[in-house]
Amino acid sequence: MERHQGDEMTLPVWDNTTAQEIIESLASEPGALLPILHALQERFGWICDDAVPAIAEALNWSRAEVHGVLTFYHDFRRSPPGRHVLKLCQAEACQARGGREVTQRAQQRLGIELGETTADGTMTFDPIYCLGLCASGPAALIDGAPVARLTAERIESLITKALT
Ligand code: FES
Repeated sequence: MERHQGDEMTLPVWDNTTAQEIIESLASEPGALLPILHALQERFGWICDDAVPAIAEALNWSRAEVHGVLTFYHDFRRSPPGRHVLKLCQAEACQARGGREVTQRAQQRLGIELGETTADGTMTFDPIYCLGLCASGPAALIDGAPVARLTAERIESLITKALT
């Protein structure tokens, strides 16, 4: 589905029955763990710790092994995202084009650090590492919609627009 800036993320609440169905539907594939984790995050926007024992049992892994993979990859979210998600590129090309200043302004505007969600659940602010928009960075995704040529002023106004 194509996303537009300002579209709210409408994801279903975590549901262990649906999660179990997803796990079982993929468990017999070779290298099933990452596809399962991606499928759960795609469906719910995050992966509840409840999934760890269910995945471990389905794949015949230990809970510690599943937990280790889940926590190793920062792309997997272990708590529900905010209603809006800002992903700001932290890779080198965007950093060289003013990404740090843009990041700082976003942090100030939201009152949170990268990787956090505002206390009211309005917006999650995540790092992302290269969107393929390096020549027109700093770049970001706001609710899945790409934005480029960011400045501190522009990110502040884009955040304000997304929140209103
Ligand atoms: S480095 Fe930011 S889009 Fe490539």
